[in-house]
Amino acid sequence: MKAIVCEKFGSADVLELKDIEKPIPKDNEVLIRNYASAIQALDITFRSGRKVLSGVFRIVATGIRKPRKKIVGLDFSGEVVSVGKKVTQFKEGDQVYGGTMNGNACAEYMRLPINNRIAIKPKNMSFQEAVAVVGGAIPALAALKNKAQIQGSQKVLINGASGGIGTFAVQIAKKVYDTEVTGVCGTSNVDMVKDLGADYVIDYTKEDFTKNGQIYDVIFDAVGKNNFSNCKNSLSQNGIYVTVDFYNPRKHRLQLITSIFTSKKMKGGMLGDFSDLNLLREWIEEGKIKSVIDRVYPLSQTADAHRYYEAGHAKGKVIIAID
Ligand SMILES: NC(=O)c1ccc[n+]([C@@H]2O[C@H](COP(=O)([O-])OP(=O)(O)OC[C@H]3O[C@@H](n4cnc5c(N)ncnc54)[C@H](OP(=O)(O)O)[C@@H]3O)[C@@H](O)[C@H]2O)c1
Repeated sequence: MKAIVCEKFGSADVLELKDIEKPIPKDNEVLIRNYASAIQALDITFRSGRKVLSGVFRIVATGIRKPRKKIVGLDFSGEVVSVGKKVTQFKEGDQVYGGTMNGNACAEYMRLPINNRIAIKPKNMSFQEAVAVVGGAIPALAALKNKAQIQGSQKVLINGASGGIGTFAVQIAKKVYDTEVTGVCGTSNVDMVKDLGADYVIDYTKEDFTKNGQIYDVIFDAVGKNNFSNCKNSLSQNGIYVTVDFYNPRKHRLQLITSIFTSKKMKGGMLGDFSDLNLLREWIEEGKIKSVIDRVYPLSQTADAHRYYEAGHAKGKVIIAID
């Protein structure tokens, strides 16, 4: 089968398309014919070997001298083609979506143990649309539902509203939780963020939301470009600042500590709860959430997809099509 292999840490140039053996599922695993993957920040981390969190995380997740995950890709969507003897939750022909920390999603076939990281995909989405949900909506939901516990009457600001996580965050905050949503994005994305449901849009190239005197109950920094100190004056009395920027604990450590002693709080480090894939499927099938797809690259051009994502200007998700 065709797969994108990463034998050493480095730039996107290290990614190679190779023919490798098709995996055979164990008794507690399913074999999936994968039709789509989507680029997310951890794909770049695992490929580049960039230091994140602590040495332990690097050893366990990334690898020390060479990548632990030889086949790249974390988010997948495809069809179950065979199931191990002990698998009762899925059957041949099920169309699924999910995410794995073990790589292997940029390949025609992948074997996966049964756990909460795989779920039946929404009926009204293609494989490409479904895979976008995994790395986009899961962290958005972790931030808004689990960390900030947003509620209907609140004012919520999403910084980075045009990105892979931000586009889902706007829709979840507006269409699921019915909050008043302000999206922050660049000029070319203002109309898209309005269309996603934002009540107000701030163009970050023209206005600094931390200095305009507006107050929010929740500020979700979905692109990790701000910090708690800057945002404190824009938070209400018991306001919460949540950030995706868990790669940079040093930047936030002091702010996390100081937030313990104030009524305004900073929260971060949300990796997401994959059992939310079932909740998201319900919302998607009810028509509350859709995927925004920027570009679709064929498997053979995965390196170009990494380069495009790393440039930091994706509008929604960058997809790998595995035909
Ligand atoms: N904690 C987790 O579980 C988790 C999981 C995955 C990712 N992450 C982190 O989440 C972050 C976002 O990931 P992503 O994949 O959603 O990012 P992304 O799609 O690459 O975000 C790109 C978007 O951000 C916008 N943007 C750039 N600078 C901005 C600024 N200063 N203000 C407002 N918008 C700005 C860009 O718009 P313009 O082109 O107009 O600049 C672009 O549309 C990454 O930093 C990643 O490390 C965290």
